Amino acid sequence: TKDRNGISQVILHNPRGASARVSLHGGQILSWKTDHGEELLFTSSKAIFKPPTPVRGGIPICFPQFGNHGTLEQHGFARNKIWVIDENPPPLPPSNSNGKAYIDLLLKPSEHDLKIWPHTFEFRLRVGLSADGYLTLTSRIRNINCKPFSFSIAYHTYFSITDISEVRVEGLETLDYLDNLCQRERFTEQGDAITFESEVDRVYLSSSDVAIFDHERKRTFIIRKEGLPDVVVWNPWEKKSKAMADFGDEEYKQMLCVDGAAIEKPITLKPGEEWTGRLELSYLPSS
Ligand code: BG6
Repeated sequence: TKDRNGISQVILHNPRGASARVSLHGGQILSWKTDHGEELLFTSSKAIFKPPTPVRGGIPICFPQFGNHGTLEQHGFARNKIWVIDENPPPLPPSNSNGKAYIDLLLKPSEHDLKIWPHTFEFRLRVGLSADGYLTLTSRIRNINCKPFSFSIAYHTYFSITDISEVRVEGLETLDYLDNLCQRERFTEQGDAITFESEVDRVYLSSSDVAIFDHERKRTFIIRKEGLPDVVVWNPWEKKSKAMADFGDEEYKQMLCVDGAAIEKPITLKPGEEWTGRLELSYLPSS
């Protein structure tokens, strides 16, 4: 299908009726629904669907830079680009396709991209939806140049939640984090679980799986990851929400970004080398 700006979108369905919608704009997932048709991802009512503006919601991919630490635009250029469908992707282990609906996308740098970031790469993204309704994003990034390059990456996942004040994130306790609200100063998490009562913008370092508990909806999201040591936790809260043109003033209550990412230690690829990172999102449904 195509959106109103003529950009192609691919919809994946599983046999139980769950679905996921992927846009070629940014290779971005814009919707992930349960088999009851409930939306699991947040997209702002003010989102702008016109490239090169990134879309506020779903799962934008931040690459090759996270945030504004570097010479590139905020969160890099991958989320602003039109990706193509990869008709002939190199094989992945069968676990990436068995029992799944999936689509392969590809991003290569344009002439313009090479001027601002002079590294030739191929970024292959496989989005899969399993019979259980799990969403998987497998990224393969290959250096096809003759010199090494380094990058950061984040799957900037906007989870849809009922009320930010009633949400708890587990799996990050005792970890160190970089606080984006304090020039990336390093702190250690002291609490048992993370709860929210003001703006949060952090990069937790070297975590394993993370769970988001949405008490009101009795839903738990589980984030599993491979090759993605860090986890970004972001909620803009009231003041920042008002400052963002493509975000409703009150919408911060219904979203929470928790990203699988590789940020603190950038990934370096030698010529010909490939990196793989995998994110798996699942949920325990409300009963
Ligand atoms: C977060 C950053 O991950 O993304 C924040 O740490 C930023 O600082 C947020 O505000 C949203 O970024 P953007 O570019 O999509 O507005």
